Amino acid sequence: MNVGFIGTGSMGSILIESMIRTGALHPADMSAANRTYEKAECLARKYPGLKAVRSNQEAALHSDILFLCVKPKEFKKVIDEIKTVVLPSQLVVSITSPVLIRHLEDHMPCKVAKIIPSITNYVCSGATLVIYGKRVEETDVNTLEGLLKNISKPLKVSEEYTRVCSDLSSCGPAFLSFFIEQFVNAAVEHTGIPKEEATRLASEMVLGTGLLLTQGGFSPESLRERVTVPGGITAEGLRMMSLDLDGTFERLIRATHDKYKEELEKVEGLFYNPAP
Ligand SMILES: NC(=O)c1ccc[n+]([C@@H]2O[C@H](COP(=O)([O-])OP(=O)(O)OC[C@H]3O[C@@H](n4cnc5c(N)ncnc54)[C@H](OP(=O)(O)O)[C@@H]3O)[C@@H](O)[C@H]2O)c1
Repeated sequence: MNVGFIGTGSMGSILIESMIRTGALHPADMSAANRTYEKAECLARKYPGLKAVRSNQEAALHSDILFLCVKPKEFKKVIDEIKTVVLPSQLVVSITSPVLIRHLEDHMPCKVAKIIPSITNYVCSGATLVIYGKRVEETDVNTLEGLLKNISKPLKVSEEYTRVCSDLSSCGPAFLSFFIEQFVNAAVEHTGIPKEEATRLASEMVLGTGLLLTQGGFSPESLRERVTVPGGITAEGLRMMSLDLDGTFERLIRATHDKYKEELEKVEGLFYNPAP
């Protein structure tokens, strides 16, 4: 099976590298194109056999599966380049939420899917959200999910929930890291504990908490209750947090959805009302 990648930035290269490291794909079966060719060439040097190609059409030509790993505003341009070479038998997989399945199906004759990976896939952890277009067949589902299983837990979601699922799964690592950053900085400032030590403690805590939530039989509520002794120190911290964070997450979800709507409108404009 030949697999092509268009876009070898942050997420494209994470997908490529994770799939090679886990043995899901052999470099000789992969080709990659990127606007700045040197980035794709750099991956080809690191993984002998992987073909860096100079055009998006070349990446598309011989791929059974083609991952589009560019930002939403680049999609129309990329699709205009490849739509004359992609075939109905090929599966094109987008990795971005504001480009909808129908945008891709309306503009290309191939089968279409959308996945939302996460930086956690770099360590073969976390979910990959998966959404299928109407031309996709069962064998495509098995092939794509078979690949993704090597680096993540593929989770089929409905396209209408893509944004909120992406908030939790793909933006989540940034949100959680921000929380840890603030927690650690406050600890360092208030007590003088070395930053490295505080960061290591907090990171181990996140790993352990994740395991308790995924494998330890806890829900977020039951874990919180288990740790919190009424009237104790954790309870005092939580009392303060629930006052200070009141409404924060509602505002966060509103902000990501407003931004998504903006991007979706721009993508719609590019696909259906292109500037003359
Ligand atoms: N980062 C994440 O954690 C994450 C998670 C889930 C989904 N995503 C989605 O993944 C998509 C890519 O994000 P990213 O973080 O990987 O962005 P990025 O680091 O900016 O990578 C985008 C890559 O696309 C290349 N590119 C741009 N236009 C191109 C064109 N016309 N032809 C070929 N290559 C082109 C860029 O090349 P240059 O080298 O020339 O800039 C760049 O290497 C976004 O839509 C994002 O929403 C990201």
